[in-house]
Amino acid sequence: MYGMVNRGLRAYVETRGGPEEWEQLCQATGSPVRNFVSLERYDDGATYALVGGYAERHGAPLAEVLRDFGQFWVSWVRTQGYESLLRLAGNDTLTLLRNLDGLHARIQLGYPELRSPSFHLEDGPDGALLHYRSQRAGLAPFVEGLVAGVAELFAEQVEVSLVPDGAPDHEVFRVRVLKEAA
Ligand code: HEM
Repeated sequence: MYGMVNRGLRAYVETRGGPEEWEQLCQATGSPVRNFVSLERYDDGATYALVGGYAERHGAPLAEVLRDFGQFWVSWVRTQGYESLLRLAGNDTLTLLRNLDGLHARIQLGYPELRSPSFHLEDGPDGALLHYRSQRAGLAPFVEGLVAGVAELFAEQVEVSLVPDGAPDHEVFRVRVLKEAA
């Protein structure tokens, strides 16, 4: 993945655990890189190893860490010059989720080798259904956290849950907006 994701991970680890924790984590997981560069691409294994190592150090379930990191990542990326791009994609959570592919397409202009996930939002009587397709495995809890981070941007409250057996070839989340933006 592009280093931007790993730079957000570093900010997450340092915010939650203190500045020395990143060094310790890189050492413990044998990370070949400490200072990730946003526009460079790195093996996905580096990201998985660091997130897994962090969960292990804290005795926390991996899914919980991925969720927390996802929410943090959105708040972090806003500080990296992307707040206006996010806001261009919508004025509320569901509208932004509807425009996620367009958002990643814009990002791809600057990150040509992006392997974007693909999203599709379907309206439903019991909350919207967010369909998520990716070339990567194991990131469903990360998506849940990212959606929570988007809701935070609009001061909304959402409930996101993975629909068990949602679809045979991709993942489906139910997104309920509990408190809409004022
Ligand atoms: C301006 C905000 C955003 C930026 C700059 C951004 C950028 C990126 C980048 C650089 C990657 C790495 C892909 C690669 O290197 O191949 C990525 C992956 C990803 N993005 Fe975004 N993104 C943004 C917002 C979002 C939001 C709001 C969501 C979902 C709610 C999202 C969902 C994901 C997911 C799930 C991945 C992991 C890759 C995968 O599933 O295959 N992104 N994004």
